[in-house]
Amino acid sequence: MTSPFGLLAELTYACPLHCPYCSNPLNLADYGEELTTAQWQRVLTEARELGVVQLHMSGGEPLQRRDVVEIARSANELGLYTNLITSAIGLSPRRAEQLRAAGLDHVQISIQAHEATASDNIAGTRSFERKIAAARLVKELGWPLTLNIVLHRMNIDRISDIIALAERLHADRIELANTQYYGWALHNRSALLPSRKQIDRAKAVVRAANKRLEGKTTIIYILPDYYAQYPKPCMDGWGRRQLTVTPNGDVLPCPAAHTLPLPRASVREKSLGWIWAESPVFQRFRGTDWMPEPCRSCPRREIDFGGCRCQAFLLTGDAARTDPVCILSPDHEIVADAVRAANEETRPLAEALTPRPHPRDTR
Ligand code: SF4
Ligand code: FES
Repeated sequence: MTSPFGLLAELTYACPLHCPYCSNPLNLADYGEELTTAQWQRVLTEARELGVVQLHMSGGEPLQRRDVVEIARSANELGLYTNLITSAIGLSPRRAEQLRAAGLDHVQISIQAHEATASDNIAGTRSFERKIAAARLVKELGWPLTLNIVLHRMNIDRISDIIALAERLHADRIELANTQYYGWALHNRSALLPSRKQIDRAKAVVRAANKRLEGKTTIIYILPDYYAQYPKPCMDGWGRRQLTVTPNGDVLPCPAAHTLPLPRASVREKSLGWIWAESPVFQRFRGTDWMPEPCRSCPRREIDFGGCRCQAFLLTGDAARTDPVCILSPDHEIVADAVRAANEETRPLAEALTPRPHPRDTR
């Protein structure tokens, strides 16, 4: 068994934004009882003992936690590399300076589009100008800045404008991530999934930008796996390198695993070390023994680990099946159908979306 490398700490699911591709649980009401500061500090200590070196503080919106500075400071004292994944709402100059003093190493800000109207429409709230101001602040304070943009049918055609904005903001890294279809994104899939022509155009723009910005800015372009032949090696394999702790203390091998019908493991009851090594949820899809055919005898089984367990479950109802994205999967038609629908000539580029509700609306 390998040691975990990264811990995703979902500090809270509270968030001022309403993105229609949010991968947070649909049943936000179940996560109201959040871990305390002391409980998070214990989690971080145990994570460090287990071998974790990177902490990603996320949510929801982690800045909604009053103790985010304290948590960042504790992580820094433990020697963890700390990354704040934020919408930037709540990153005031004062808060930013406190986080800088606490030793926060890196900031990743999400923007929804290249300009205010489109970005605010997707975010479901006026936020673009504040995000831009926060991105400037991050650079002024000397942090490395990653800009993350979730791509979909409605913004992918503006990818060159998005890259130009990131350049103006002096982002060190631009993460252009096509939507992954979990949570609200799956609910909104038909309105979000781009066409093949859109994907190909975007690929060409990214290729040219990569050449132009070589040595200056790193561009990460994550293809929508629905258009791939083989699935992504999700989480680099189940229970191999990453773990996620949810706001209420559940520990998961990936941020979407709350959807799977697996026994829960919580830091309220067990140590992180026991959960990593022994818990049924981490053991269930570790390694290759659990695999069905065609994965079991496939030469790629240790390359992609059979794809994504959450996607297999969401699309087939059985988390132990081959990821339907794979062309060898007996369920591949499910993905092929969605791709066919996204490529119908008559399909409009803009369709109605269901926004993510605010947690307080679901409690
Ligand atoms: Fe990967 Fe399984 Fe497909 Fe082989 S059959 S490529 S292991 S998902
Ligand atoms: Fe859970 Fe891929 S998102 S295994």
